[in-house]
Amino acid sequence: MNVLGIETSCDETAASVVGPDGVLSDVVHTQEVHADYGGVVPELAGRAHADKIVATVQAALDRADIEKPDAIAATAGPGLIGAVLVGLCFSKSAAAGWGIPFIGVNHLEGHLLSATLEPDGPQFPFLSLVVSGGHTTLYLAKDVGEYSVLGETVDDAAGEAFDKVARMLNLGYPGGPAVDRLAVQGDPKCVALPRPQPKVRVPKTPAGRVGVRALDMSFSGLKTAVRTHVGLADRASDADVCASFQQAVVDVLTDRVLRASRDTGVNRVTMAGGVAANSQLRSAMECLDLEVHLPPRHRCTDNAAMIAHAGRLRLLRGQSHGLDLGARARWTPGTV
Ligand code: KG4
Ligand code: ZN
Repeated sequence: MNVLGIETSCDETAASVVGPDGVLSDVVHTQEVHADYGGVVPELAGRAHADKIVATVQAALDRADIEKPDAIAATAGPGLIGAVLVGLCFSKSAAAGWGIPFIGVNHLEGHLLSATLEPDGPQFPFLSLVVSGGHTTLYLAKDVGEYSVLGETVDDAAGEAFDKVARMLNLGYPGGPAVDRLAVQGDPKCVALPRPQPKVRVPKTPAGRVGVRALDMSFSGLKTAVRTHVGLADRASDADVCASFQQAVVDVLTDRVLRASRDTGVNRVTMAGGVAANSQLRSAMECLDLEVHLPPRHRCTDNAAMIAHAGRLRLLRGQSHGLDLGARARWTPGTV
């Protein structure tokens, strides 16, 4: 079954075809319109998706050398609603026109299953760390659609912290890749920064928030510590600040992965999301005494191959959605 995947949840317009032998095409168009604003402007993202969606999908079909897919999978959330709607409406219309099945995919499920798209990907169960611009969550994946959250950030996402630190240092947007590049020249021990551990708190009511779990994370105190340091007269160089900040993020993330593995007895681990493209985080994960599966960098950042793949796995299990499926700004993977 050849599945056309479409991703428009943020600032990438992406289309891909995934078949029984893997990825047949993988087209990603990154919107440049946001660079001047220091962050993604939702209204502009929606318009830019509408401009590029037809050409991007056509390119994916051409490169896969097929005229018509067997099914369509599109990101239905979470994400910027105006952006998600462009890909979702396009996909539903195309599925109706072609008379083929349609499935809406959770963007985070796409990330968390990314490593299983590789030929030597992990078997279930595995731990999956999804670290992106909007989310930082450690999942236990038991099967397709069966995920439990072991820990997540209680404030900023790791990618958001990278972007904010980059903004403090005027490194441009997106900040993660710029911090990554500069950190190579710096000393990670130069600036003493915290490795925050949120205080465990049981929920007040059973139906309320989950409280704070032992494997939860926090990045806003770290970001504030960087800001305080950068304001000092005798502050370290930008490279040293980047290296020290990055080391702190890597230490927190690898600590939670190791503890999650110890707590669950699951030693297969993967990660995805934009921050999973970070060089130092990748080396640190590879050094852990665990079975580590890292998707290639271009499958860590937003792409449509992961959407086609996650949709295909569900379609093969007999699942699909009606054309009345709506877009969702918030959506926990594994929930309906
Ligand atoms: O998954 P993604 O492409 O989009 C979202 O769904 O959010 O992640 C984007 C985030 C941004 O915050 C960006 O700064 C960060 O991933 N990022 C990185 C790197 N490449 C992208 N962070 C650290 N190091 C990188 N090399
Ligand atoms: Zn993403």
